[in-house]
Amino acid sequence: MSLSSQSNTAGGRSKPVLNVAMVGHAFMGRAHANAYRQVNHFFELPFTVVPKIVVGRDARRAGAAAKKLGFADATADLGAVLADSTIDLVDVATPNDSHHDIAMAALKARKHVLCEKPLAMTLTQAKAMQTLAKKQRVRVGLWHNYRRAPATMLAARMIARGDIGDVRQVRAVYLQDWLSDPKTPASWRTDKKLCGSGAHGDLNAHLIDLTRALTGLEFDAVCGLQQTFTKERPAGRGKKAKVTVDDAFCFLAKFKGGAIGSFEATRVAPGRKNYNCIEISGTTGSIRWNLERMNELEVFSSKDGRDAQGFRTIMCMDEAHPYAANWWPDGHIVGYEHTFVHHLADFVAALGTKAAFKPDFADGVAVQAVLEAAIASTKSGGWVKIPK
Ligand SMILES: NC(=O)c1ccc[n+]([C@@H]2O[C@H](COP(=O)([O-])OP(=O)(O)OC[C@H]3O[C@@H](n4cnc5c(N)ncnc54)[C@H](O)[C@@H]3O)[C@@H](O)[C@H]2O)c1
Repeated sequence: MSLSSQSNTAGGRSKPVLNVAMVGHAFMGRAHANAYRQVNHFFELPFTVVPKIVVGRDARRAGAAAKKLGFADATADLGAVLADSTIDLVDVATPNDSHHDIAMAALKARKHVLCEKPLAMTLTQAKAMQTLAKKQRVRVGLWHNYRRAPATMLAARMIARGDIGDVRQVRAVYLQDWLSDPKTPASWRTDKKLCGSGAHGDLNAHLIDLTRALTGLEFDAVCGLQQTFTKERPAGRGKKAKVTVDDAFCFLAKFKGGAIGSFEATRVAPGRKNYNCIEISGTTGSIRWNLERMNELEVFSSKDGRDAQGFRTIMCMDEAHPYAANWWPDGHIVGYEHTFVHHLADFVAALGTKAAFKPDFADGVAVQAVLEAAIASTKSGGWVKIPK
């Protein structure tokens, strides 16, 4: 790994450049590309981030995406990109089945890696990625962007300083409805070979990460239940494809230290579009966050006078709140895409120091261990301990 020796002198100050190769250029590709374009405009960082090259499976489509997303170049040859010493960071924004191979190849080439979630298809793969990242002494991160909304960062801060006392219970749901209609076509997201699991790896992965990030709790054991309501879906030209993943996945959790939690992920909850909601109850208060009202944090404190008690809503866009001062005047809200900008800003800032960036691949391993144990518990019908 070598951070590019080129420098950028915009604004009169010279900064090293961080050249980015982004693999995959659809939904997450667009979200990440927006972050690469925006981050230096809103955050003071030790590097100038350069969206250099898009890597796809088809050079022509990658070329069109590069043009649209603001990258300088495009290719279908990942090997050539990894052999290019001017590329500093490889972004893995592809379906889950390819995370391991692309990230391992990038790590072998000593590139920094930012990988989409879930980190891998299996715990074994995830551990191999963590081990190699450590050995190569490069910096790695996982795009669990929901940690980095101003309101979730504030929730983590409040819980860490004891505002709700000791955490006893977590109840987290991530509800979507885009697979409610049996006529919705099959895709990589309904094929276990390409994604590993359904709502579980897609949505519970976020809830597990968010819980760890906000509370600092570690999972001890889980007990889950999953269901596939629609067994096959249209696959084009009158054909059908088997659905080999869960539509909905619920699990209970015991945390080390005695706290407990309940988790639910579904893609078949009519009316719920992207309802990612976590409520955390402590000994003296509670905190609730919902992505669909992402700049608000609901907080209850039993320390308030009895006649004034109740959940109050903090609008987390004051300059006192995380990231808010980087954007607009107080109360001028931010949205989904900003979570990716914040994530990238923190990663690039960490590159300039020895500070840790979280979540890294160790966190990815921790999430994968919970995902895998929950799946095992649906088969055994009982509690499954999270391996060390
Ligand atoms: N952080 C989040 O909020 C969030 C949201 C959605 C998806 N994701 C994750 O992002 C990843 C990508 O999801 P998406 O929704 O962007 O998928 P997508 O289907 O929209 O895009 C996938 C892209 O990867 C490309 N691709 C597929 N296989 C490839 C390969 N082997 N080599 C190179 N390119 C390849 C496709 O051509 C496409 O450009 C998944 O792991 C998913 O779990 C995260």
